[in-house]
Amino acid sequence: GAADVGVAGKDVLVEHNSDNLYEPLDLNIAKCKLMTAIVTGRGLPTGKIRVATKYINLARQYFAKKGQQVEIIKLYGSMELAPIVGLADCIVDLVDTGNTLKANDMEPLDHIMDISSRLVVNKASMKMKHEEIKLLVKQLEKAVADRS
Ligand code: PRP
Repeated sequence: GAADVGVAGKDVLVEHNSDNLYEPLDLNIAKCKLMTAIVTGRGLPTGKIRVATKYINLARQYFAKKGQQVEIIKLYGSMELAPIVGLADCIVDLVDTGNTLKANDMEPLDHIMDISSRLVVNKASMKMKHEEIKLLVKQLEKAVADRS
């Protein structure tokens, strides 16, 4: 309720409950992928695997769907260090150029979802300021379309 509209990454919206927000527009910027990644050439052990990530809900859902048993280790940054120091078997993180993984001798494994920045609107604001917000969404829609 502190803001009427905002911009947030799809990763943040899915990870944290965003039921109180409308998501009227994919801004098509800050595009990247949420992926699993491993130390290059190391593969994954059989049985339960240890996964380091800040996306604990997304990771849990993803591995549950695959029927893979996991231990999730919540980290707040530099998660590519976790497999290197033996804390985890793989990570779940955003990948854009892949340079961060390469620099840490890691490689991407499975694609979980495509990510981009979204326009978000507070549901109460949408009711109270409908015309203004509708106009803003329309203008941004045009800007996104013009750019592509
Ligand atoms: C993200 C992500 C990786 C990096 C991937 O971090 O966590 O570290 O970008 O990008 P690349 O594939 O182009 O190397 P970000 O810089 O957003 O910072 P954060 O760790 O604070 O989220």
